Amino acid sequence: MVRLIQVYAMSAVPERQVDIELAEIGQSVIRLIGNTPLIKLRRISRQVWPVDIYAKAEWYNPGGSVKDRAALNMIRQGEKTGQLTRDKIILDATSGNTGVAYAMIGAALGYRVRLVMPENVGEFIKLKARAFGADIVASDAVESSDGAIRKARELAKNHPGRYFYPDQYNNDANWLAHYHGTGQEILRQTHGRVTHFYAGLGTSGTFTGVGRRLKEYNRNIQLFSVQPDSALHGIEGLKHLESAMVPGIYDPDLADQNIGVDTEEAQNAVKRVAKEEGLFIGISSGAVLAAALQKAAEVRDGIFVVIFPDGGARYSDQRFWE
Ligand SMILES: Cc1ncc(COP(=O)(O)O)c(C=O)c1O
Repeated sequence: MVRLIQVYAMSAVPERQVDIELAEIGQSVIRLIGNTPLIKLRRISRQVWPVDIYAKAEWYNPGGSVKDRAALNMIRQGEKTGQLTRDKIILDATSGNTGVAYAMIGAALGYRVRLVMPENVGEFIKLKARAFGADIVASDAVESSDGAIRKARELAKNHPGRYFYPDQYNNDANWLAHYHGTGQEILRQTHGRVTHFYAGLGTSGTFTGVGRRLKEYNRNIQLFSVQPDSALHGIEGLKHLESAMVPGIYDPDLADQNIGVDTEEAQNAVKRVAKEEGLFIGISSGAVLAAALQKAAEVRDGIFVVIFPDGGARYSDQRFWE
């Protein structure tokens, strides 16, 4: 820091400009959100030649997941519309990653954050959210993310004026973060040559935003949404839409195909990517890859892009690793 100031002083930059430069460095955690790498799965691609599979490595976001993008856009939108003011507490229901994202951004921007999560969400996520200063309200584990949504709604309704409730399941700023960010990045990183796109459905923000951007660019790009194949599943972050509350932002007409994946199949793909590519990915990433691999065996050409929403660390105590 001291050296920086000296360098600027030596180059005779006016003092005010030095302050601005330093203030920008202070915001760097927010600035690190987005622009994640697109990694070619080289060994796996060789096995499905001539298809090439590329993964958008979303754990490179500073909060560790794709949800940093949506959380930041919803907070910025709240600020712009005046719904989020300094006296408000940011409140939302989350299955984990969005909670960490709100907590991290809240810490960086100086907002208090309250998260409603099913009580069986892993310790790693809770510890991270609490480290950023958020407090956690537990909802019934059996009711999964739907129970958390109901509880968050109740809190927001009973205390109007206390909370800023972005409601990620029904907020356009969620999918728009991916329309302007993730989708645009994929077009740039593939030089517009992507032919097949795969993403899991949680709030559906990632799939909806990227999907709309890609279809707008080229209607022939095939979109595949991925979800667990049954109501009882272990693919955290994804919803089995037939049995769950359907998010308001979900667009049922967007996907060319909707693919159901079994939990064990997703876990096997996670292990395979670790051994064959040296990437430690989360279970929903495994589910998305498993869906893409089914298709890659059928088609004879293409550039596939799959979203890997988070890394494997938060799932490292799960039994499938034993
Ligand atoms: C691990 C994981 N995968 C996938 C998703 C789905 O992302 P989206 O909410 O954009 O549909 C989430 C969302 O929380 C997640 O946490």
